[in-house]
Amino acid sequence: MKFSIAVLPGDGIGPDVITEALKVLRVVAKMSGHDVDFRFGLVGGIAISQYGTALSLETLKMCQESDAVLLGAVGHPQYDDPQAEVHPEDGLLALRKGLGLFANLRPVKVYPVLVDNTNFKPEVVAGAEFVFVRELTGGLYFGRPKKQWRTSRGRQAVDSMLYSEQEIERIVRVGFEIAQGRGKKLISVDKANVLESSRLWRQIVIEISQEYPDIELEHMLVDACAMSIIQNPGYLDVLVTENTFGDILSDEASMLAGSMGMLPSASLAGVPKEGIKIFGMYEPIHGSAPSLTGLDIANPIATITSMAMMLRYSLGLTKEAEAVEAAVEAVLDDGYCTHDIMGEGKIKVGTGKMGDLIVSKVGG
Ligand code: IPM
Ligand code: MG
Repeated sequence: MKFSIAVLPGDGIGPDVITEALKVLRVVAKMSGHDVDFRFGLVGGIAISQYGTALSLETLKMCQESDAVLLGAVGHPQYDDPQAEVHPEDGLLALRKGLGLFANLRPVKVYPVLVDNTNFKPEVVAGAEFVFVRELTGGLYFGRPKKQWRTSRGRQAVDSMLYSEQEIERIVRVGFEIAQGRGKKLISVDKANVLESSRLWRQIVIEISQEYPDIELEHMLVDACAMSIIQNPGYLDVLVTENTFGDILSDEASMLAGSMGMLPSASLAGVPKEGIKIFGMYEPIHGSAPSLTGLDIANPIATITSMAMMLRYSLGLTKEAEAVEAAVEAVLDDGYCTHDIMGEGKIKVGTGKMGDLIVSKVGG
């Protein structure tokens, strides 16, 4: 088969980690007899400096015409001024909305070799492995009204946590489908004791749950969930939640894994089901870390495992996805690490060498 992949390295360490993911992807494609055509584009700060916009229409179109999008990271301190007209992050939001990527999967996995790399007791984090299903194109990020204005008594601002029935339904279905393929347990996270949008959310979750009688459903309030993530992460399996809650909880949960450089993500335009290929965008959850750019320091693992998610969900190459994930685990088990996951007795390597090691395990 021939696949076309839109590659948007973005800012900071984005290009560093993308280079390694492409290395691995080329080898996987060659081994499995597929052709991959890479189309490169700009997003984020680099696109602002080149085109004056964080995502050009041409780049969006190129992504729409590809089988999947692989993205590095966006963001640069040069564009951090809240007064600025455009921000690198606008590019990311425009991609999510423009490509209809409503379902964001963020798996959290504590690799056995990294249990001593966190701020938590090893016995608390050991074995934790769960996934967030985060709604990505609704809620506070996109709801209207969204504005600032002046009144005689000072400035005011509003963001709207707006959700339609259809928006909730489709993300909740993704939650149930993912739960179906894992431990058959779904936790829906909301704030139904206070928010109207959460009350509608909970009602719809209950309605959809009728279609999935074999899935055990639990509702959890978002504040209690924040506590549960660090108190008893081993209890969690699949969590489905709205955009802002998912943003905050997934950063919190990333700390269990020892480094943000370990966590991948997939943003999908449909409900994943066995045997169906879905358009998606794949990126590490870490940011652009400008101070590490080009120093051969950044950890490429999250980008490589994001690419594995792309193989699984958008290209239908499940076996190849598993091979990449196994290769990552094998390299870690051999004691190799990048600076962010350094530990006693481990062998520290740079970005490029980590990529080479993973390639050699995939190839061997
Ligand atoms: C994320 C990021 C983004 C978000 C920012 C960069 C817009 O924090 O992907 O979690 O808030 O969704
Ligand atoms: Mg975030």
